[in-house]
Amino acid sequence: MIKIAPSILSADFANLERDIRRIDAADYVHVDVMDGVFVPNISIGIPVVKAIRPTTKLPLDVHLMITQPVRYVEQFCGAGADLVTVHVEADTEENIHAAIDKIHDKGKRAGVVLKPKTPAEAALPFLEKVELILVMTVEPGFGGQKFMEDMMPKVAALRRLIDERNPSCELEVDGGVAPDTCQTCIDAGANVLVAGSAVYKAEDIPARIAELRGA
Ligand code: DX5
Ligand code: ZN
Repeated sequence: MIKIAPSILSADFANLERDIRRIDAADYVHVDVMDGVFVPNISIGIPVVKAIRPTTKLPLDVHLMITQPVRYVEQFCGAGADLVTVHVEADTEENIHAAIDKIHDKGKRAGVVLKPKTPAEAALPFLEKVELILVMTVEPGFGGQKFMEDMMPKVAALRRLIDERNPSCELEVDGGVAPDTCQTCIDAGANVLVAGSAVYKAEDIPARIAELRGA
């Protein structure tokens, strides 16, 4: 079954509780954290994760677009994140391992994220120990960008590796996922789709979430 993770980056921040309730039919709440250094934008942080935690029963999928995430993963777990993903480009391999270990020590799920120019092989050192791999289908930093269809071979390669080496690991895509691109992602082997603008711009959000699950 395909899971949908609406990104609250496209929600109305003045009405976050209302907009999180609007995605009750989804599977995860995707929370985009940006530090203005790893990506050229600043979004939300630990106090907001803590504030939204009691507003939903859905797991919080916290996507850290920050440098040296090992410095902050424990605080995000403490604030209520259920799944924390860190970019492989954001620190040394050793420190990414340390970040994953800290997330696990907090009893939470951990994942690694690959930017568009980062090859599938960059996930290999972490493949057997993570619960999720996230493939960016836009350059991280902003919602509402055009879907990069040329990421699909990378998704397919990771699907094969996951099936061989860690079959329970989830494979997520993030960026430009909409009714016209969701099936391509599913066909390539993704099982979790992040969607920001495609969900929050919809007239009927539950219907849009159902549509994004594919045919
Ligand atoms: C981009 C974020 C995405 C973004 C997706 O840096 O990681 O989660 O909010 O937004 P859409 O679905 O509008 O491309
Ligand atoms: Zn994201």
